Amino acid sequence: MQRLKDKSALITGAARGIGRAFAEAYIREGARVAIGDINVEAANRTARELGAQAYAVELDVTDQASIDAAVRAVEAETGGIDILVNNAALFDLAPIVDISRESYDRLFSVNVAGTLFTLQAVARSMISRGKGGKIINMASQAGRRGEALVAVYCASKAAVISITQSAGLDLVKHGINVNAIAPGVVDGEHWDHVDSLFAKYENRPQGEKKRLVGEAVPYGRMGRAEDLTGMAIFLASAESDYVVAQTYNVDGGNWMS
Ligand SMILES: NC(=O)c1ccc[n+]([C@@H]2O[C@H](COP(=O)([O-])OP(=O)(O)OC[C@H]3O[C@@H](n4cnc5c(N)ncnc54)[C@H](O)[C@@H]3O)[C@@H](O)[C@H]2O)c1
Repeated sequence: MQRLKDKSALITGAARGIGRAFAEAYIREGARVAIGDINVEAANRTARELGAQAYAVELDVTDQASIDAAVRAVEAETGGIDILVNNAALFDLAPIVDISRESYDRLFSVNVAGTLFTLQAVARSMISRGKGGKIINMASQAGRRGEALVAVYCASKAAVISITQSAGLDLVKHGINVNAIAPGVVDGEHWDHVDSLFAKYENRPQGEKKRLVGEAVPYGRMGRAEDLTGMAIFLASAESDYVVAQTYNVDGGNWMS
C-alpha cells in the first residue's frame, strides 16, 4: 500500500542529500514532489532523474517573494500542498572568538527564518484549503546541545526544535501536524564540507573527523540519507495524525531524549 498516494509534497533543499532521498521515498509512496532548491540547475537535474512524479521549483528560503512564488507554483501544479519538509540549511564552523556576523546572519536566515517563513506560507495555504497537512522540519542532534566550534549552527537547530514545538501547538487546531527529525551524522556532500572545516580548525587530515564521528555512533557507522526516510514517511502519513510538536532523533543512538 502506498502511504502517500496522490499527496502533494514540497521539499526544500531537495536537489541533493537528505532532501533528495526524501523525495525518492515520497514518490515511491505515491506522492508528487516539488524539488525546491536555490540551485535551480541541480533541482532540475534531480527532478529529471526522479521521473514524472517530481518537478523542480526555484526556491530561496531567505527571500519571501521566492517562498510565496514557490507555494503558488506547487498549488498551480497539484491543487494544494499536503506535505512540507523544511530541509534546506547551511553549516559553518568557528571558535567563539572568530564567529562573524556574516556567518551568523547567513545561517540564521536560511536555517531559522527560512524554516519559519516557509512553514508560515505553507500553513496559510493549508489552512485556506481546509484539508490539514503535515509539516516536517529538519533539526539535528546539534540542536540538542552546544558544541565547541559549532555555536551558530547548534543554536540555529535548537531554534528549529523550538519553532517545531510552537508551530505544532498552534497549527494542530487546523489539522496540521508539525514535527521534526533530528539526524545525527549523515554521510554526503554536507558532511564532506563539515569534515573539511574540522580539518582546518582542528588541524586534522582530511577525512579523519568523518571517520571518528562514524566510529562513535552506537549503531556502528555514520547515517545514510536512506536511514531517515522511514521517519520522514511516517511523519508525512496519516499514521502520525496524533503526533504533535515532537522532534525525533534518528541518529543510530547518538542522543537520547
Ligand atoms: N548531513 C548531516 O549529517 C545532517 C545532520 C543533522 C541534520 N542535518 C540537516 O538535514 C538537512 C539536509 O542536510 P543535507 O546533508 O542533505 O544538506 P546538503 O547541504 O547536502 O543539502 C542542502 C540543500 O539545501 C539547498 N539550499 C541551501 N540554501 C538554500 C536556500 N536559501 N533556499 C533553498 N535551498 C537552499 C542546497 O542547494 C542543497 O541542495 C539540513 O537541514 C541539515 O541541517 C544534516
